[in-house]
Amino acid sequence: MTSPTRREFLGGALALISAASIRLPLWAQTVASLAGAPAAGPLLLGVDYYPDQTPEALWEEDARMMADFGFTNVRIAEFAWALMEPAEGRFDFAWLRRSVEILHKHNLAVILGTPSAAPPPWLTAKYPDIVEVNEKGERLHPGGRRFTCPTNQVYRRLSLIIASEMARTFTETQGVIGWQIDNEFTLGSSQRCYCNYCQAGFQTWLRSRYGTLDNLNQSWGTVFWSQTYTDFSQIPVPLPSGGDPNPGLALDYDRYQSYANVSFQQEQLDMLRKTCPRHFVTTNNVGLVDTINMRDLYEKLDFTAFDNYPGFFDMLMAQQGRMGSSAFVSSSIALGHDLARSVKGGKPFMIMEEQSGKAGQKTFSPQPEKGQARLWTYQAIAHGAMGVNYFRWDTATFGAEEYWHGILNHDRSKSPAFDEIKQGVRELKALGREVLYSNYVTDAALVFDYDCSWALAIQPGHFRLAYLDQIVSWYGAISASRSGIDVIGPEIDLSAYKIVFAPVAYVMSEKQAARIRSFVQGGGMFVTNFRLGVKTETSQIVRTPLPGLLRDVMGVTVEDYIPVYSAKNGMKFSPALAGPDSECVLWTDILQPAGAEVLASYTMGAHAGQPAITMNSFGKGKAVYIGGDLNEASLARVLRTLSGMAGVKPPLEVPAGVEVTVRKAGNKQWIFVLNHGASSQSVNLPAAFVDLLSGEKLTGKIDIGAYGVRVLQS
Ligand code: GAL
Repeated sequence: MTSPTRREFLGGALALISAASIRLPLWAQTVASLAGAPAAGPLLLGVDYYPDQTPEALWEEDARMMADFGFTNVRIAEFAWALMEPAEGRFDFAWLRRSVEILHKHNLAVILGTPSAAPPPWLTAKYPDIVEVNEKGERLHPGGRRFTCPTNQVYRRLSLIIASEMARTFTETQGVIGWQIDNEFTLGSSQRCYCNYCQAGFQTWLRSRYGTLDNLNQSWGTVFWSQTYTDFSQIPVPLPSGGDPNPGLALDYDRYQSYANVSFQQEQLDMLRKTCPRHFVTTNNVGLVDTINMRDLYEKLDFTAFDNYPGFFDMLMAQQGRMGSSAFVSSSIALGHDLARSVKGGKPFMIMEEQSGKAGQKTFSPQPEKGQARLWTYQAIAHGAMGVNYFRWDTATFGAEEYWHGILNHDRSKSPAFDEIKQGVRELKALGREVLYSNYVTDAALVFDYDCSWALAIQPGHFRLAYLDQIVSWYGAISASRSGIDVIGPEIDLSAYKIVFAPVAYVMSEKQAARIRSFVQGGGMFVTNFRLGVKTETSQIVRTPLPGLLRDVMGVTVEDYIPVYSAKNGMKFSPALAGPDSECVLWTDILQPAGAEVLASYTMGAHAGQPAITMNSFGKGKAVYIGGDLNEASLARVLRTLSGMAGVKPPLEVPAGVEVTVRKAGNKQWIFVLNHGASSQSVNLPAAFVDLLSGEKLTGKIDIGAYGVRVLQS
């Protein structure tokens, strides 16, 4: 029996529910529409608003202006704990109710944020040990936000109490449609908490994961350095200890911290499901952060909501002097959108915060170029978003984010992007929910595995080798094929794809290896590189020759693995991948083919002439091993060529700097063409199209203006 596709499964489950005459809540009706039925779901084109930071005399004017602007909703209250609970157990929602009523009067639906990301001073003064301890063992201080321990029971109890009081107060309030739990779980002050509560929580989590100490000791190899535990209470957290921690312990600690945040969120979610059954529930995060497994975080939420700050990210990268190239930034931003969609198996997602002006806490990011704010909006929609909220309506005149510009300036005049954002909102309403809730179509997937990211950060092998960098470079290179990409977890069935890319798949479970094996056997192309299958799930190195569990699928044995420092190496390509030689940037795996064809070989040193890239035929498919770390241009060419061999076709041929994606509903299809460049670009259309934004009928060679957008339908 073949397993059903996601769509068939969803459709089947919904058919059963409807046969049983169960009335679906509004949000589930939207999901039903995604299973193939006509689109229906709320129109979420809104703005993040802070009545708590705005004189009440302006609320009415704000609501009227936001409604005139065309917005359909606002998100409010996610940092207003101190106003809603001025003292422990004393609640005041009167102000928030007045605000919701005014917004509702102007037809603005309300998404309420629960405020657990910013506990008030009375709380931290009374319960100082809710504050997290960083990786050096130092307790942070209150005064900012997101400084809390995810395990601490007092913090969890008080967070649940304030969220429950809000939920009870607003469940029947007209205009309230949904919830954002907390705010950006992934962006803590330090990456993880290492306090005593977390240590105890970790020990409990380990007990249920491993059952016995024997199992745990074996799994981690604690006999090394005399670390055998004879009681769960002896197990430490990975704080500085005069030597590197056991890699199994360190990886499990990252998993535990992710779990602790997810279970913290779950408490609020369970309560909201009970108290507010008619409302949707989500949370917001930025894309390219690996502190929490987003697939776990969003698993039980209704849809993914991400925050998108391209200009700020650009400034941040430049500030850190870290790969500040515009290609890295633009790939990271596009990847964030594809991750947001893929986190929930392709369901349309929402941008909860979209950059609308200069952004920054202490320094300003550049002012978005004319057209860029509208372009960013379309980029989200092009990658599968169904809604966009802008950050923020007005610009704060006090607090840590005075420099973070909104749609109104400090003096309430229009920001430079005011008119174009308004235009975008008007256009998206005209495109309508059928487009916004349509599916995203692609034949290609990139595996993004949190275990690999964490395990590689613990032991990178080369001080410059970072999993996220590899993911971003591969994503950028695959984008060159214009195929569209899902960004999937290792637990996903691969049969829906023609080609699957998995860089540095360092930790490999038996189940994942089996899925890859059957994907290739069934005719798919699997493309991977160095450090494949080095580690088991408990972070032990496999005792078989590399690439471990996938040796027969890849048709190679890794004879040696060599980081690149001063002794350089290079690669030259066979005619199938023809192009200029590449340097090997960080790594070379020396390959011994066992049946695989050689597509490139090393050019220097002791291993000159030995295979560097191989392709193996296995079952009906192909498995490609890229042994050396390619430079940007070669990686793009190689991955693009392989996509072509796998039968992936771009919907349109477009020049560099132009993005193209496809969304589909039934037999309708929309092609989004986005020009990220400052000058106009031209594209050749293979057939006649209508641009739904301008209404023009188009054939042959067309122009896409600077930061311009076309939405094409044939
Ligand atoms: C987001 C955050 C918002 C606001 C914004 C601008 O990351 O969710 O609360 O801080 O950035 O800084």
